[in-house]
Amino acid sequence: MQIKKVGVLGCGLMGAGIAQVCAQAGFTTVVREVEQTFLDKGMQRIQGLLAKDVSKGKLSADQQEATLSRLRGTISFEDLADCDLIIEAIVENIEAKREVFTALDALCPAHTIFVSNTSSLTIVEMAAVTKRADRFAGLHFFNPVPVMKLVEIVSAITTSPETVQTLREFSQALGKTSIEARDTTGFIVNRLLVPYLLDAVRVLESGVATKEDIDEGMKLGCGHPMGPLALLDFVGVDTTYYIANIMFEEFREPRFAPPSLLRRMMLAGHLGRKSGQGFYTYGG
Ligand code: CAA
Ligand code: NAD
Repeated sequence: MQIKKVGVLGCGLMGAGIAQVCAQAGFTTVVREVEQTFLDKGMQRIQGLLAKDVSKGKLSADQQEATLSRLRGTISFEDLADCDLIIEAIVENIEAKREVFTALDALCPAHTIFVSNTSSLTIVEMAAVTKRADRFAGLHFFNPVPVMKLVEIVSAITTSPETVQTLREFSQALGKTSIEARDTTGFIVNRLLVPYLLDAVRVLESGVATKEDIDEGMKLGCGHPMGPLALLDFVGVDTTYYIANIMFEEFREPRFAPPSLLRRMMLAGHLGRKSGQGFYTYGG
């Protein structure tokens, strides 16, 4: 199946990046938010990143203009009606996701493929609310989407081989490398990454070292681009907390349980970069 028009649900950290790479790759793209202020913030972020690429000479002014002409932001759900592919990137909450997929199933034509960018939720639990479980999969991007080369294609037990093939071709058209995983909690990358991030919080909580030394240790000792606590701020304390709860619920292993400090930071609104305060303080 040929994808021409892509709908993205959510214009937050991930949705904005996904909408940007889709439009840059030549797809007509419509991104939907719930409120105009959130949409404006996401669209400004995309415009800022494109402008930065132009100033660095990585993108021509014509390419920037063409990308923006293919990209439209909306708060109207109905604007997603004629998309060939819908990529959902809203909050990591199963009820919220099931609600949007139920509504989308009634809105979109039969051929439209639905994918979720979920980090940890079960794909078939979302597919089951639609009448297109064969055209439903996980398509998991990584943050920051314009930079990170990977996507995970996640097959539920109901996903058809044709859908997987379309997603392989789509990922390639975006310039991403795809890997494939079964519909198991955390797929490949988060199954390994999340316990590591949570362990870093436990090391901090237990007073082994300062946050700076924990991060420096993993950067210089293991060659990671960011230390785990800086990465947790980057992903979002709220999102990591939701993911940990979902993974713990599934596996019942203490290593997936959210540490107390994470919960307290979440309650205090210390959500990481997005709120200006997490393990570190961010300006601007
Ligand atoms: N959005 C878009 N582009 C960004 C960006 C952002 N938030 N942050 C940095 N960049 C770009 C910069 O513009 C720069 O581009 P150029 O090469 O064109 O100049 C490039 O990335 C490198 O940036 P910097 O030189 O400023 O900084 P850096 O070398 O430290 O790289 C980084 C920044 C790419 C974020 C790097 O630190 C990194 O790879 N960090 C780890 C990210 C990671 O692990 N992501 C996965 C998170 S887990 C996940 O996504 C799954 C989940 O479900 C939770
Ligand atoms: P975010 O909080 O930055 O953005 C979510 C956005 O969705 C918000 O702006 C919210 O207003 C919007 N939204 C909520 N309900 C909506 C609806 N019905 N229609 C349209 N928009 C709606 O979160 P995020 O970090 O972008 O995460 C989004 C999804 O991507 C989650 O499932 C998360 O697990 C996954 N994910 C996150 C990361 C990461 O590093 N943060 C990486 C990969 C995957």
